[in-house]
Amino acid sequence: MKKILITGGAGFIGSHVVRHFVKKYNQYKIFNVDCLTYAGNLTNLSDIEGYSNYEFIKEDINNDEAIFALFEKEQFDAVIHLAAESHVDRSISNPKAFIQTNIMGTVNLLNASKKIWGEENKENLFFHVSTDEVYGSLGDTGHFTEETSYDPRSPYSASKASSDHFVRAWYHTYKLPIIISNCSNNYGPNQFPEKLIPLFINNIINNKPLPVYGKGENVRDWLYVIDHAEAIDVIFHNGKVGDTYNIGGHNEWKNIDLIKVLCKVMDEKLGRPENTSEELITYVKDRAGHDLRYAIDASKLQNELGWKPSVQFEEGLKLTVDWYLNNKEWLNNVTSGDYQKYYENQYLKR
Ligand code: NAD
Ligand code: DAU
Repeated sequence: MKKILITGGAGFIGSHVVRHFVKKYNQYKIFNVDCLTYAGNLTNLSDIEGYSNYEFIKEDINNDEAIFALFEKEQFDAVIHLAAESHVDRSISNPKAFIQTNIMGTVNLLNASKKIWGEENKENLFFHVSTDEVYGSLGDTGHFTEETSYDPRSPYSASKASSDHFVRAWYHTYKLPIIISNCSNNYGPNQFPEKLIPLFINNIINNKPLPVYGKGENVRDWLYVIDHAEAIDVIFHNGKVGDTYNIGGHNEWKNIDLIKVLCKVMDEKLGRPENTSEELITYVKDRAGHDLRYAIDASKLQNELGWKPSVQFEEGLKLTVDWYLNNKEWLNNVTSGDYQKYYENQYLKR
């Protein structure tokens, strides 16, 4: 039985990746290593808790001794690395946590993999899950390809870019078998309500203002999270060692246009009169260094490995809204306690 370590499996994307692998591949044992920060939540995986090919281990990837010991003990065959600090706004107010986990934590995992795999590692793989933000910010035209030069502009994207460079360095220097994927904005169930879509869903439910940064003209390329998990599966099994694959939704939206569609869906689902939610839109001070536009060219992944997104945005958005409305307890749990302090600092003192 192949042993696969997935880091950050209690978070948003990680939980969908863990579920996907556990359910689809009973010939693999999936180990989910997560230290359960504010963004990690084991209820995201309560449906697979009892599966015999799944094990959760609470550990911090910054703890190099514990990580080494775990690799020695379990002798993982492959790693899919998602654990990270992931929110741009938090990286602006607290960059060091991003440098620690996203860079040093990644290096700990690279070192542990190198130690147990050596250079005779034809069957092993270190799969690093990264972001399109490493490429910087686009103007009105153009797309990021795998050849686009790195130009990170926030502490978050700088930390992810740095981790990508370290992963490639371990490939070139130590022959560690690696693959990197760089994906666009994900949305879907279980996303922590600090990110645009779940934050706005939660605020609409509670009749709170919808804080649009700047003029709402920034553009993002949105991908349903289950399509991302599928892409990771395809790349994990068929990707070329040493290569990079961009993953995107071919689905660009100006923030304000997306927010208006979301408001309409929420009014319908909540049975509120038309335009009720739109009236909550409030323009606030822009995010510092706010990247204007991200757009991914995912043609390499489509042409070489046959992956393309399967969920249309309107459908994915409705599925997402339904999930949050049907899981109000999840939403209430994650928005109690520390979240209130975060919200106050991020929005009420702006
Ligand atoms: P998330 O914040 O929802 O989840 C991160 C998970 O990592 C949490 O479960 C957290 O507890 C865990 N974690 C954080 N620090 C840790 C540490 N030191 N040790 C162990 N576990 C730790 O993030 P997400 O949105 O699911 O993103 C997952 C990965 O995908 C990240 O690497 C992110 O950069 C990348 N990514 C995210 C998006 C997106 O749109 N969300 C897009 C492209 C790439
Ligand atoms: O592109 C991939 C990246 O997408 C991932 O690597 C990151 O982990 C993920 O957080 C996401 O980054 P963004 O900064 O694009 O996502 P966020 O949801 O924070 O913001 C989306 C857009 O909405 C962005 O232009 C900022 C804007 N925004 C966001 C929030 C939270 C607002 O206008 N108001 C808000 O309150």
